[in-house]
Amino acid sequence: MLVVLSQATVQQHTVNARELNQITETARMLGMRVYSLPAEPEHWVDVDAALAYVPVFEQPQTGIWVGYIPKPEHYTALYQAAATRNIWLINTPEQYQTAMEFDRFYPLLDELTPLSCVITELGQLAAAEARLGWPIFVKGAIKSNKEQGWQACVATTSAELERLSAQLLSQPAQARGRVILRRLVQLRMLESHYQAFPLGREYRVFVYQNQVLAYGFYWDAPSEEFVLNAAELASVKNLACEAARRVGTPFIAVDIGQLINGDWIVIEVGDGQFSGLSQVQALELWSQLKAKLEVVAE
Ligand SMILES: Nc1ncnc2c1ncn2[C@@H]1O[C@H](COP(=O)(O)OP(=O)(O)O)[C@@H](O)[C@H]1O
Ligand SMILES: [Mg+2]
Repeated sequence: MLVVLSQATVQQHTVNARELNQITETARMLGMRVYSLPAEPEHWVDVDAALAYVPVFEQPQTGIWVGYIPKPEHYTALYQAAATRNIWLINTPEQYQTAMEFDRFYPLLDELTPLSCVITELGQLAAAEARLGWPIFVKGAIKSNKEQGWQACVATTSAELERLSAQLLSQPAQARGRVILRRLVQLRMLESHYQAFPLGREYRVFVYQNQVLAYGFYWDAPSEEFVLNAAELASVKNLACEAARRVGTPFIAVDIGQLINGDWIVIEVGDGQFSGLSQVQALELWSQLKAKLEVVAE
């Protein structure tokens, strides 16, 4: 049986909150044991209290945390507290961190993803500029500021690069103190835009132990152009599995984009527990996950 530890609340104000609810309902419908985690980790009195209503299981159970990206210390704390109840989160703390932090997974992905440099202070920018050339895509180790548009992610001069990097260094939730500079590649673009952000032909693929569970168009935009033909789908799935194998995190989301020459590249990966659905169907993803985990348990 799968045990789901969910941060969903009645609050539905954001896309993330609505998705957490949708996933939690889906898990319930599939017969998983769902327990609510109270509020955010910052407000837990102690982790054990957060799991007060969770029983100790006789047989080891696989646990999945459905919630918001936690700090590494909070992930470790919940992992350990769940383990005392014989619930084993699907990814260990180390596997969680490897999939979430760019500078940890980048060396493993290597040539599958665009050339990138990691900086922790502005004095390191000049060397990165020289290595990457212009323009440069700028993001934090966890995520970018894409919600603020293309200008918030792409630098074309040293001054812009310094401004964007300084901003990210002051945003721990995005960067955890590390700014990622990436060679800007030419993605095949769709015609539609999302808040001044050009939409690439990109897909999110959820993988569990090197098997594809489900995939969907990455952007929340209706588009005919995102349908994959059989050969394209095979390429996307192969690349997702190769990326997952290299990163070594059991439950992982792999984002894949198409270059204008037709080739496919990895954009980034993330822990499957904290990755948005994009256009992946919750029911498909979670029934596949359940099927795969039950096979293992038999
Ligand atoms: N090196 C790059 N070259 C061109 N476009 C990129 C590059 N890296 C990211 N992008 C574009 O920016 C988007 C957001 O970048 P991403 O690394 O996925 O940030 P986030 O972690 O915030 O989702 C991607 O979906 C892709 O469209
Ligand atoms: Mg992304």
